[in-house]
Amino acid sequence: MQVKDRVALVTGSGGGIGEGIAKKLAGCGAKVVVNDIDGAKVDRVVAEINATGGVAMGIVVDITNLAEVESMFKKTVEQFGQIDILVNNAGIARDKSIRKLTEEDWDVVLNVNLKGAFFCAKVASGYMREQGYGRIINISSRAWLGGMGQANYSASKGGIVSLTRTIALELGKKGVTVNCIAPGLIDTPLFHILTPEIQERLKSKQPGKDIGTVDDIANGVLFFAGEGAGYITGQTIFVCGGRSLFAG
Ligand SMILES: NC(=O)c1ccc[n+]([C@@H]2O[C@H](COP(=O)([O-])OP(=O)(O)OC[C@H]3O[C@@H](n4cnc5c(N)ncnc54)[C@H](O)[C@@H]3O)[C@@H](O)[C@H]2O)c1
Repeated sequence: MQVKDRVALVTGSGGGIGEGIAKKLAGCGAKVVVNDIDGAKVDRVVAEINATGGVAMGIVVDITNLAEVESMFKKTVEQFGQIDILVNNAGIARDKSIRKLTEEDWDVVLNVNLKGAFFCAKVASGYMREQGYGRIINISSRAWLGGMGQANYSASKGGIVSLTRTIALELGKKGVTVNCIAPGLIDTPLFHILTPEIQERLKSKQPGKDIGTVDDIANGVLFFAGEGAGYITGQTIFVCGGRSLFAG
């Protein structure tokens, strides 16, 4: 299998899309590091992967802290000998119109979504360059194209696309590919927090399937993580049922 015996670290994989990605990679034979800030979630996902014949280790770390990120990758390499695949998945939203958005709303979203991904890519790529092999997969959002009430979130996710393109250039000759997935509406707890009216309005804008699954995103990650995708780098694919095809 394409990721068998590879070592993968998925940030924010204590739930939602990250959990689905970690389980998909583990199910395909990768050794997986489950990272999150929530220890109880990490313990549950690690136990579930290990109980179904996978190999997983949990590391509770806040990705906005560079020293913690450095210690996370050090522990990963001590435990599993290498780090082949990084999935920068952890992300948060604090949606408000620009009029109501505070400096704190801006900072907290940019810190987790963009600075955290930068820290992880920076540290992981150090190991990957030495190995001469690596796969970095960043989770952006369709909202990087623009989203009402999402100035901070959209800017952070646009930053992820730019980060992807730039570090793909820098790491290309080192055997490391860097790609990005921009999910649209995905059926996670985050979606069900929205009022039924908003859920319906969002679904009505979908040209194709009205909502995607965690597995739709995990399948995209598996594709980029595999050795067969070695000639693809710096790219962003939308996994959004066609919603990226028009604005509004
Ligand atoms: N759900 C969607 O419809 C959707 C759509 C587009 C993009 N995305 C993106 O997909 C990713 C996953 O989203 P989700 O819906 O699964 O969200 P989620 O809230 O279910 O999961 C995110 C996880 O990240 C963890 N996390 C938050 N801050 C962290 C930090 N500082 N360090 C480590 N972990 C941290 C949380 O504890 C949580 O378990 C995010 O980047 C999100 O922006 C989601």
